[in-house]
Amino acid sequence: MGCGASTPEGADGAKPEKKAGSGDTAGSPGPDKFFKEVDKVKKKQPDNLCAKYLDKKYYSTLEGADRDTFYKCVRTGIDNPDSGMGCYAMTPGDLTKFKPFFGKVIGDYHKKDPKCALTHKNDWDISSVGEGGVLDLAKLGMAEPISMRVRVGRNLAAFNLPGAMDKAERIKFEQTMLPAFDKLIATEGYGGKVYSITPDFGADGANPNFIDDAKYQELVKKHVMFKDMDADPYLKSAGISSDWPFGRGCWMSDDEQKIIWIGEEDHLRIMVMKKGFLINEVFSELKTMLDLVETLEVCKFAKDDQYGYITSCPTNLGTGMRASVHVKIPNLTSDGTDAKAKEVAGPLGLSVRGTGGEHTPIGADGTVDISPRARLFIKECEIVEALYKGVELLMAAEEKAGKEPAPPPAAEKKADAPAASTAASPEPDDFFKLVDKVKADQPDNLCAKYLEKDYYASLTGADRDTFYKCVRTGIDNPD
Ligand code: ADP
Ligand code: ARG
Repeated sequence: MGCGASTPEGADGAKPEKKAGSGDTAGSPGPDKFFKEVDKVKKKQPDNLCAKYLDKKYYSTLEGADRDTFYKCVRTGIDNPDSGMGCYAMTPGDLTKFKPFFGKVIGDYHKKDPKCALTHKNDWDISSVGEGGVLDLAKLGMAEPISMRVRVGRNLAAFNLPGAMDKAERIKFEQTMLPAFDKLIATEGYGGKVYSITPDFGADGANPNFIDDAKYQELVKKHVMFKDMDADPYLKSAGISSDWPFGRGCWMSDDEQKIIWIGEEDHLRIMVMKKGFLINEVFSELKTMLDLVETLEVCKFAKDDQYGYITSCPTNLGTGMRASVHVKIPNLTSDGTDAKAKEVAGPLGLSVRGTGGEHTPIGADGTVDISPRARLFIKECEIVEALYKGVELLMAAEEKAGKEPAPPPAAEKKADAPAASTAASPEPDDFFKLVDKVKADQPDNLCAKYLEKDYYASLTGADRDTFYKCVRTGIDNPD
């Protein structure tokens, strides 16, 4: 529409009454219109940090392309009121350019202090952590090898962040990375190959690394490739999943333990993943790979003076690191949900995810993905230490939960409380958080397709427990 940015100044050069950024543009709504929505979210979802710190006065000071970019950063939090963070940077410079907003969101999320002025420091020296740098899960009583993964998010300073990339830039980014992967492939101990789901390279023709859908699905199942980003509403309204699947793929080493994602939420997610007991081993192997990657000419990573490594999502800033293990906690998940596990893990600084990653259900056997929540204003070595100590405490809680008397059978519960969780079936709100994700991710899953919240909520006691037993498999196994 283009009607907001060009009101002429008065003859004396003074600013006119009406601010330049007061109307809608093609790329962003005017403040009045936008804040009608923002105010609703502020009221309904006080934990949505984006809505919490969106300020009409500040928004009104932004004009033209700046306001459009800022709107792209924050739109996801308003489109998706249940967001916890609710915003993503579009370019490496956005954190500085829009600091009056991002500074508060980041400070609140990472330090519960919107005024936080700390400066992040990276430190991978693990020697003083654990027993001389060794973090051995077997010492915590783990009998079977544990699936361990440590990843970092990294972005190239020379490109827009994924939310602002167009199709041509996504393809160019993938092509730019190919010589770097060639170097890894030629390095002893690495090898491997690139798997790409980019249908073609546009004007540059065929993509030599293209894999078909069956191979892609196989890699997703093995936790090697990332899921269909376009099914993630948070990424979608930030533009991060646009042009899917162009510019997306991964490199994986010969031993299938070293992986680099291309074109997910960050330009690169660099990780080591394997089954075993020594978390420090995965950590150190990642550091070695990262040092090698950083010597490659194209890999000039975006960094911020205060916030360290820049990532699309402010939750990942600083280290960009998520260190996780898949552990079985059947006692804490005996109701089929992660509600109790989250209750216990939260105060330990741990996040609980499903076995397919963020926004996926827990495993049918009670397996969950546990990782420290902190990424910024914490050292890399402290993250793996926090994972180890957190798992130790979580397993103690799991053991304790196994000794507690079993909850009364569902049939003994009051039949007039259909909305509450029973021993054997989750409450409708909790269950349908998962069901709705599966509905969105897997439209061919007939169980999810025909599960109705009202119907589920109408069932009580033993009937609801039995019904839940009938359908649980379809939600535990989205495919
Ligand atoms: P990210 O860790 O990059 O934020 P997700 O939580 O979506 O992303 O997880 C991405 C993939 O990595 C998923 O397939 C998930 O199951 C897998 N994953 C994460 N941690 C582990 C682990 N410790 N063992 C095996 N797979 C894992
Ligand atoms: N944007 C989502 C929210 O605010 C997800 C944030 C954390 N996860 C992530 N993948 N960056 O709730």
